[in-house]
Amino acid sequence: MAESNTDTKSSNQMWGGRFASGPDAIMEEINASIGFDKKLFAQDIRGSIAHATMLAHQGIISAEDKDKIVHGLNTILSEIEGGNFEFSRRLEDIHMNIEARLATLIGPAAGRLHTARSRNDQVALDFRLWVKEELEKTEKMLTSLIAAFLDRAEEHAESVMPGFTHLQTAQPVTFGHHCMAYVEMFGRDRSRVRHAIEHLDESPIGAAALAGTGYPIDRHMTAKALGFREPTRNSIDTVSDRDFAIEFLAIAAITGMHLSRLAEEIVIWSTPQFGFVRLSDAFSTGSSIMPQKKNPDAAELVRAKTGRINGSLIALLTIMKGLPLAYSKDMQEDKEQVFDAAESLELAIAAMTGMVRDMTVNTARMKAAAGSGFSTATDLADWLVREAGLPFRDAHHVTGRAVALAESKGCDLAELPLADLQAIHSAITDKVYDVLTVEASVASRKSFGGTAPSEVRKQIAFWRARN
Ligand code: ARG
Repeated sequence: MAESNTDTKSSNQMWGGRFASGPDAIMEEINASIGFDKKLFAQDIRGSIAHATMLAHQGIISAEDKDKIVHGLNTILSEIEGGNFEFSRRLEDIHMNIEARLATLIGPAAGRLHTARSRNDQVALDFRLWVKEELEKTEKMLTSLIAAFLDRAEEHAESVMPGFTHLQTAQPVTFGHHCMAYVEMFGRDRSRVRHAIEHLDESPIGAAALAGTGYPIDRHMTAKALGFREPTRNSIDTVSDRDFAIEFLAIAAITGMHLSRLAEEIVIWSTPQFGFVRLSDAFSTGSSIMPQKKNPDAAELVRAKTGRINGSLIALLTIMKGLPLAYSKDMQEDKEQVFDAAESLELAIAAMTGMVRDMTVNTARMKAAAGSGFSTATDLADWLVREAGLPFRDAHHVTGRAVALAESKGCDLAELPLADLQAIHSAITDKVYDVLTVEASVASRKSFGGTAPSEVRKQIAFWRARN
């Protein structure tokens, strides 16, 4: 009996014409991406419907065939959504799984769908659509996180806490001001997300394998139908570009780094030694052996997820760095990195938003800590400059002596008797005590962006108007 190369059991029905027998098991395993790219089913179907509609509009396929194709694709969409679709590894990827099912459903008309396109522009389209949606979701999630911080900042615009450099007490700040630092960070992340959406907002479909196509297609029509600003301008670049995925990962890595710093602060703040915040039960766990413990597991896991996200960024940069133009199969490895990072990022932002909203802030502990470690020393030096006309360097020296004296007496700067201060510098009067409290210290820092409650409130208003 003559061997038939259309036997789909022994050779792939999409490119099987040249192959006498099916791929061996290892080839099938290394080649198949259906295990992960089935996530792209909705984007693939959307793209195919837009493509088929354009083909019919341009007279490249008949309206009847287009109707069959669109109907079949919608049936497949509900099959997949309803869990009634059997994915086959033999059919490699989501594109061929869907096309093969379409052939079963509508017969030969299915074969016309792939006119004037290739899996290279098809996958570029599907993945772009997916990343675009993910960026839009990230933008919304960052907005909620920023809103959570704005609420806490408003509530604590006057709550004094120690500000740190080198994790050593530096100067008093307000907790509201500290919260607003995170608003700035996540605000930058969100604007990076918006720029990334702008960068990727070009439709790849119609670039075909790499060179474009001889069919009279209308790429502007498909771009519009799929919600893109315009079509991409170079077909070679289009099928070999994964910048949009790398940009997503880079943004995820920077956002993750911010989330991880916040996680680290929450871990520190929630220790009994600091006691600045108490996490809600919802975002902490107990120890199976030590009944007294409440562990900041969610914060720790956010800190760890950042490691995974960084790994994904490096992986995709490495996958892409040696590839000649245009498409190479290496690029199939782009998806798992992005899917994994997206899942981690979503979880991390959601967990942090919950933690920030739920945590109890211990303002008494913060205030007590704010006053320790001679945190108002700079205020004393500034007072000497302002009120006694000393050059700042001399004031710094005088203050250093006052700090040393307080340290030797085991008291705070504000607890030093006036006589002691005057012995160090005769120009000091009892007015100095007005600036030695932590409240006076923060209230005085009215420079633009400074920690004074009045300034913090201005920044809150600025962000409220933009959130
Ligand atoms: N599964 C493939 C991917 O994810 C689709 C594109 C295949 N193109 C090809 N020329 N083999 O990249």
